[in-house]
Amino acid sequence: MARLTLPKSSRIDRSAGKHHKAPPGTQESRIFQIYRYDPDSGGQPRFDRYELDMASCGPMVLDALIKIKNEIDSTLTFRRSCREGICGSCAMNIDGTNTLACVKSCKEIKGDIHILPLPHLPVIKDLVPDLGSFYAQYASIEPWLKTDGPPPATERLQSPGERARLNGYYECILCACCSAACPSYWWNPERYLGPAILLQAYRWLVDSRDKAAKERLDALQGPFKLYRCHTIMNCTNTCPKGLNPAKAIAETKKMMLARTGQ
Ligand code: SF4
Ligand code: SF4
Ligand code: FES
Repeated sequence: MARLTLPKSSRIDRSAGKHHKAPPGTQESRIFQIYRYDPDSGGQPRFDRYELDMASCGPMVLDALIKIKNEIDSTLTFRRSCREGICGSCAMNIDGTNTLACVKSCKEIKGDIHILPLPHLPVIKDLVPDLGSFYAQYASIEPWLKTDGPPPATERLQSPGERARLNGYYECILCACCSAACPSYWWNPERYLGPAILLQAYRWLVDSRDKAAKERLDALQGPFKLYRCHTIMNCTNTCPKGLNPAKAIAETKKMMLARTGQ
């Protein structure tokens, strides 16, 4: 598993962290070390330690975060919605790997459980990164069906083979775990689209109903948007949905080559 660095602009104040002791009568103690940062406070980021009784906590890291927020420290801030690995909201760095807190079992982790926001993104507060630029890049690939001619009287049909070409791509939940794990994206976050957005771009390139492949490939031309991928594979190794963005990027490069005949 890829072990990753701290979020952007993080200079941790090791002396400032607070320790929240386990409640009396704790049967199964576990320590969570959680990155805390509130830009409005003017203070540096810190790690707070929370001691939980796992005998009264659900099994997933998100269960522990919710327990902390409900019972110990309501100021802890994180995103979550579905608790089923579907919405992508709870993406964060747990035990050195970008993943979804709702599908990461505490039992998989040895020792203290370290939780940070996704790395190399600006932090809004605690475990909440600013994904504004990520979503703007998503919008830039125009992620909708583009067709020509009049709309058909019924739905636009695909053969089973055509539909199968979307497998491995349509499942992406845009959690950003892969992009936040990609060194090329760390160094060129404005100009390189990163693995998540490139996987989404490829999902439209291989959709038999879409008629804008040329226009979509034209938009990816140039040295940065696509070609900053150096096949390091962090993206594929970290994807919590088991997808392969590096393959989507390689296939897109092949499509580029095929049309130029180079
Ligand atoms: S490819 Fe995987 S890691 Fe990347 S955004 Fe999609 S689901 Fe998340
Ligand atoms: S394979 Fe490409 S997109 Fe994936 S981590 Fe490496 S450089 Fe980034
Ligand atoms: S809460 Fe939706 S993916 Fe974790």
